[in-house]
Amino acid sequence: MAEPTDFRHIWVPPERSGEPTVLALHGTGADEHDLLPLARLIAPGAGVLSPRGQVLERGMPRWFARHAEGVFDTDDLVRRAGELADFVDDAAVKYGFDRDNVVAIGFSNGANIAGGMLLTRPGSLRGAVLLGAMVPLRPEPRPDLSEVAVLIGNGRNDPIAPAEQAEELARMLDDAGASVQMAWHDGGHEVTADVVETARAWLAKLRTATGSPPLP
Ligand code: MLT
Repeated sequence: MAEPTDFRHIWVPPERSGEPTVLALHGTGADEHDLLPLARLIAPGAGVLSPRGQVLERGMPRWFARHAEGVFDTDDLVRRAGELADFVDDAAVKYGFDRDNVVAIGFSNGANIAGGMLLTRPGSLRGAVLLGAMVPLRPEPRPDLSEVAVLIGNGRNDPIAPAEQAEELARMLDDAGASVQMAWHDGGHEVTADVVETARAWLAKLRTATGSPPLP
């Protein structure tokens, strides 16, 4: 039987029509409330669709199963990335947003499932802000991501998402044709104010490129 794709979620309508929709993807142990303030900072005025991951690891919600810290169950990851993409399809119909103008903002495990969506369901996101991101999987052949823009915001001293992983992810997405920008900070597995500001400016530029109305 097919898994349910109706994620528990919060929907924040956009302030004006023509705004992008942010798909907010929390990290392990958080929930659908966690990234609402961050989404507001990075994408003021945008609609926000913020689901809760359906995998429970010792009671902590996340997006896909893992065998150990940093060792992912890639079969589960691919399946769950597909379910999440299906959920966004359904939500676009339910809430009436433009399915072709969805930008993920994911932190940690949320960045990794967003990366999984990009790599396995390439049409599912217009763009993605991946914060504290790792390589979710290494698909062959690479998908065509020539219509996709990605900002990766990682710490050079992140013990959970090592810098080499962020660099490999950037190369992989670039090889697939995506427009990739890196935003490094000197810290660890956290999101800094500088990276938030870079992400806000990056998204404002993407909106101009896609003809969305200017930010207030
Ligand atoms: C993951 O499992 O996606 C990463 O290890 C990040 C995390 O701890 O959730």
